[in-house]
Amino acid sequence: MSSPASPPRGLARNAANYGDREFALYLRRSFAASMGYSRTMLEKPVVGIADTASDYNNCHRTVPELIEAVKRGVLAAGGLPLAFPTVSLCEPSLSPCSMHYRNLMALDTEAMLSAQPMDAAVLVGGCDKTVPAQLMAAASADIPAALLVVGPMLAQRFEGERLSACTDCRRWWARYRAGEVDAARIGEIEGKLATTAGTCGVMGTASTMACIAATLGFMPLMAASAPAVHADRLRFAEEAGALAMRLIARPVRPSELITPESVENALRVLLALGGSTNALVHLAAIAGRVGIPVDLRRLDRLSEETPVLVDLKPTGEGYMEDFHAAGGLVALLRELKDLLHLGCKDLYGDTLEQRIAEGPAFVDRAIIHARDTPVSPVGGLISLFGSLAPDGAILKRSAATPGLFETEARCVVFDGLEDLARRIDDEALDVTPEDILVLKGAGPLSPAGMPEAGHLPIPRKLARQGVKDMVRMSDCRMSGTAFGTVVLHIAPEAAAGGPLALVRTGDRVRLSVRERRLDLLVPEEELARRRAAWSPPPKPRRGWDRLVHEQVLQAPQGADLAFLRPDGC
Ligand code: FES
Repeated sequence: MSSPASPPRGLARNAANYGDREFALYLRRSFAASMGYSRTMLEKPVVGIADTASDYNNCHRTVPELIEAVKRGVLAAGGLPLAFPTVSLCEPSLSPCSMHYRNLMALDTEAMLSAQPMDAAVLVGGCDKTVPAQLMAAASADIPAALLVVGPMLAQRFEGERLSACTDCRRWWARYRAGEVDAARIGEIEGKLATTAGTCGVMGTASTMACIAATLGFMPLMAASAPAVHADRLRFAEEAGALAMRLIARPVRPSELITPESVENALRVLLALGGSTNALVHLAAIAGRVGIPVDLRRLDRLSEETPVLVDLKPTGEGYMEDFHAAGGLVALLRELKDLLHLGCKDLYGDTLEQRIAEGPAFVDRAIIHARDTPVSPVGGLISLFGSLAPDGAILKRSAATPGLFETEARCVVFDGLEDLARRIDDEALDVTPEDILVLKGAGPLSPAGMPEAGHLPIPRKLARQGVKDMVRMSDCRMSGTAFGTVVLHIAPEAAAGGPLALVRTGDRVRLSVRERRLDLLVPEEELARRRAAWSPPPKPRRGWDRLVHEQVLQAPQGADLAFLRPDGC
């Protein structure tokens, strides 16, 4: 342990305060020794490893094996690895939704990073909300921290096609809803969609966030996409342990990596990937932890200059294993080079320019397109503003139907998820393919907690007629694996009293992608009448729900809790 003159390190960090520091350390050593460590080991630098293994988290099935490999890297470099559990969030396993608990995981992880004795950390995450929560925590705790993701699952070959979670889940389920396949067939498909360990095998939220974390510098570029079951994944784990040890000798803090320039690079990558809409909310939350705003209007300008280059589901055809084999993030960044801030550094102290130059030179153009033959000449996401979304909304145009980009129509409104579930498949529902479906009461402040429900199902009676897409809009999110003409994250949300709260079935709404507008075509006097009659949802009585209700911010601020941001608002 440290001498009295040197700053505390290893197990001597963050001693409990009994009024007698030496006694606190004596006590800590004696308890730590009860785990069988020698005094020599207890005096080594400590790398904390955030362990998100959970029987509720299928995506993280390989975490125990990865942690063994991280420990190997730490031990070989002369450190003491100490794993500790944190909240773990698996996308389909939580109610009302995983997003409601992302900030809880961030708070838990930050507290453990700050309170326990460690000189550096390795954060082992992967499933959608885990990487954002860990980066938010790292940014706030601001201790040197490397990220290790579990990696994507492999696609399954099945009857001449490939299947993977979860774009194919939605595609097959839509066919089932339309009556194209029967219950036996959809049951058979259920067992083919997620057949290995790892995160969803398409460019959904988990994969998009892995690419963003690597772009920000928290892990090697190729570590974003190596499959979960590939031996390289274990080598990246070992390297994460070794990297954490190097960070002890030469610290690089998260706040040095998350800068306006690196956040802009991350936005470019998000756009070029045709990545998940959720990543925008998460990036706003991560950047917000160090006081950097993510401006939706700036996103829109970047989107006009940044082509979609990656042909992966849900916007294209390939799977994550194809992206990795095609050259991965290195190949993508090489294509984007002139649009990036190349001086941004990573945890190794290397600039983005060096990282690109030192990566593999191979590229498979079937998956990662050249700039002059893009998948789409403009970026995957755009922002919208207007009388229905004064603080903004977003649309993933790369996954939408261009024929619906300019739509003015009557809307059919669902007041919350229960109302949606009760009426969407009602044969008596007054709805046509030309209508706009609107869901309100599902934003971050609502009891629903901003779930991935924005991809409203096509009403069954229209699905049976062959309707594949309609304009849909809401204050909630959409799975990164979903597709359709879906306007999301409308802010302010209905539960906060935004104009969305006032929309009624029969109102006319106008979406214009060309003008980046989203407008409610109802006279102001009528809206004033409705506003006077509106009342907010009741305050939860206690616990986490109550804290969220009192503190949660809107989507453009990343739906973070206000008191966790540096400005407290
Ligand atoms: Fe975990 Fe998709 S459910 S990444």
